[in-house]
Amino acid sequence: MHRALYFWAALATAGCHRAPPPPSENPYREPARAILERRCGDCHRADAPRRQARALAVFTLNDVDFAARMSDTQLGDALGRFTGEIAPRDDISDEEARTMAAFVGAERARRGTPR
Ligand code: HEC
Repeated sequence: MHRALYFWAALATAGCHRAPPPPSENPYREPARAILERRCGDCHRADAPRRQARALAVFTLNDVDFAARMSDTQLGDALGRFTGEIAPRDDISDEEARTMAAFVGAERARRGTPR
């Protein structure tokens, strides 16, 4: 109990002079990873037989924070493959599209990029 109070007190003090830090983790990361593994893993997984070096250079699904190196444009392009903007929607479900939109939104918020 006391420990918890100290924790919150320390947090409050730390936040005194600057804006609160952006959340360090994207809450949609694992759901997004599951979708991307299914849809994009053939080329964007380091251990896939058909992996492609240039695809891995953009994002590697084996990395914990796999979107860390992606530019804002690349994030938008990744989403576009789920919304129909870049690739046809085909068999992509609304659920998948929604999860990816939430993931990209949270990733942008985390970086402070306006949506
Ligand atoms: C058949 C292999 C393959 C699959 C499947 C694949 N990619 Fe890629 N992807 C690549 C390659 C290769 C590149 C690098 C292209 C380059 O360097 O010009 C790339 C680049 C990208 C880029 C950066 C270029 C851009 O459009 O901004 C994004 C984002 C991307 N892929 C997202 C995805 C997503 C999301 C999926 C799944 C829906 C996916 N890719 C599925 C091979 C693939």
